[in-house]
Amino acid sequence: MTPQSIGIVAVGAYAPPGIVTNADLEKIVDTSDEWIRTRTGISRRHVAVPGTATSELALPAARLALERAGLAPEELDVIVVATCTPDMPLPSTACFVQYGLGATHAAAFDISAACTGFIYALNIITPALKVGLFRNALVIGADTLTPFTDFSDRSTCVLFGDGAGAAVLRAVPEGHGILSSYMRADGSGSEMLTIPGGGSRYPASAETIAAHQHYIHMAGNEVFKFAVRAVEDAIATALERAGLTTADVNVVIPHQANIRIIEAVQKRVNIPEERWVINIQEYSNTSAATIPIALNEAFEQERIHDGDIVLLVGFGGGLTWGATVMRW
Ligand code: ACO
Repeated sequence: MTPQSIGIVAVGAYAPPGIVTNADLEKIVDTSDEWIRTRTGISRRHVAVPGTATSELALPAARLALERAGLAPEELDVIVVATCTPDMPLPSTACFVQYGLGATHAAAFDISAACTGFIYALNIITPALKVGLFRNALVIGADTLTPFTDFSDRSTCVLFGDGAGAAVLRAVPEGHGILSSYMRADGSGSEMLTIPGGGSRYPASAETIAAHQHYIHMAGNEVFKFAVRAVEDAIATALERAGLTTADVNVVIPHQANIRIIEAVQKRVNIPEERWVINIQEYSNTSAATIPIALNEAFEQERIHDGDIVLLVGFGGGLTWGATVMRW
């Protein structure tokens, strides 16, 4: 059997309606709207009400993508959820999504690659579809970072929000769909970005909670430097693998962690500013969800046209980084 071309045929996204503005954060920690906007590009973030599980953000995004694809949940063969904030350690968040959708014929599993998770999930599931292991796939990037955010730490609490984005993948006409992929990891940088408590190394206890180990810890400056190098590397390698150059790229959807990271990369790669989709001002960093949320926004704003070369690029904890190149 000749491998078929596989692509995204529909997208959807969901952000909870609750908004926390920079002015709201000024009342909690010693910060300012001006500092947050100029250092990060963030104006506000969507936050879930306490007690919301990540699958509850993933479900509306998934339903929208399925509806746009004209696909019933029973027609799904596999559901992959990329998240670093699962509903619980066991079972996978994907199983909650599978049950919630009524996707009675689907396999379901999670991928843990932090903010690069959606890219990893797309890149891993595409070859499985190509060879016919699955026909219809639902790939979701979803994170609920608020419960893992230390609101006494001004260096991290201004950066994160909650949300989900979803994509339906299946066979597309020859020449369209995913053209190349690239994924890397460097665990020597694991301590730069971590939620140390609550796993097997530091099981949840009164001590881990007192030490704030169940919150995100980040060496912001180090992550910043890594991110610029990683994004540049991922763009160059994924385009080279697709036999394309930066001049061919119509739309870039980067992970939205800090506007200054995106601007630093823009200076290094030759892709005009107007081709980049940026919405960090509205959503902040929603980890695995930033790329599919921005992809959904680009689709809704009709910024992507049939035949366009779309480049997704991300980086995150792990450390991990990667990219996907597709013809829409
Ligand atoms: N408000 C006011 N001042 C602040 C705040 C704040 N919210 N946070 C830090 N500062 C202060 C610091 O205390 C420091 O003060 P000092 O000079 O008196 O010591 C000063 O601002 C500068 O701090 P830096 O950490 O050097 O600030 P920087 O310009 O590096 O910005 C930031 C920090 C925004 C975290 C930046 O380093 C960054 O974005 N890094 C990358 C983060 C990232 O991408 N994370 C997500 C990865 S994806 C994932 O997997 C989740």
